[in-house]
Amino acid sequence: MSDDAIPSAKLPLSARSPGKCIVFGEHAVVHGGPELLLALDLYTQVGVAVGPETRLNHDVDGRRSNPYFDRALDRFWRDRPAIDVSVVSRVPRSAGLGSSAAFVAALGAALASASGGMSRPELAQAAFDIERGAQGVGSPGDTAATIAGGCVTVNSDMGTILWQVEHAEESWTVRRVPDPNWVWVVGYSGIPRNTATAVLAVGRRLAQPDGPSLLARFAEVAESGIRAFVNEDPESVGAGMIRNQELLREVGVSHPRLEALLAAAEPVALGAKLTGAGAGGSVLVLPRPGREMEVVRRLARAGAAAYAVRSGSPGADLVSATRIPSG
Ligand code: MEV
Repeated sequence: MSDDAIPSAKLPLSARSPGKCIVFGEHAVVHGGPELLLALDLYTQVGVAVGPETRLNHDVDGRRSNPYFDRALDRFWRDRPAIDVSVVSRVPRSAGLGSSAAFVAALGAALASASGGMSRPELAQAAFDIERGAQGVGSPGDTAATIAGGCVTVNSDMGTILWQVEHAEESWTVRRVPDPNWVWVVGYSGIPRNTATAVLAVGRRLAQPDGPSLLARFAEVAESGIRAFVNEDPESVGAGMIRNQELLREVGVSHPRLEALLAAAEPVALGAKLTGAGAGGSVLVLPRPGREMEVVRRLARAGAAAYAVRSGSPGADLVSATRIPSG
């Protein structure tokens, strides 16, 4: 296993994994389009210990009420002793910031570690299988970003290959791109959204006769935006975000609250757009240099829970266990 693998360790242990935001390409990625994601410095942390019965945050019905938990146990913990799992998270739920992927990745890393360790590509495939199984639809972008950490692309030629994720006939290539280390602002509208509902609605929209040309525009905006990101050109990245938002509006996943947040940030932003599935959830803003806190204030005044965030956080890993070298 590579140095970067999730190492073997004994229970009790804790693992954590970051939330994510999408700079370019959400929704289109489900249909093969390119995407750019950043891991955020907001984490979900999972503690796992052997317990008298399997519980999730003290809930003995955790398996029934949480399909991600149920599927993760099926995948990583069949016929193993009962475990007590506790979760704390700074990633708001149903906000488009990858809370379910961060939970699955942190829990998967913990259980994989207690089962002898796992390579990161294997964990990425397993986490995607769990998320896709629980949601029924979607791409491996969110699980890839939380497991890889830093900045990653999916379905793009840009970056160095990390791994490939498969589902039935589909395949997505995940690549690492360098982190320009900018400060971003995320604003959660407070309107929870459902990823599967939004993905299915966009799928219906893209099945209309102009679907292929819309998808081509998504791809062109994302590819040129990713190039600008790699060239550390924030003005062009911001302009690309604005164009990406126009397309997201056109496929019907914006929301009046999101538009109000984007309008509030606009005077002090290089670019801004919704991030994640939309139809509620969050906006992502690239502030003009030196205006970061003003963006936070403007979004907060417009009613959002606003966070200044840095990209480039490390991906899924153990936090508190003694590392036992593998091999
Ligand atoms: C959700 O964070 C991003 C979507 O593109 C769905 C997916 O890629 O699974 C809307």
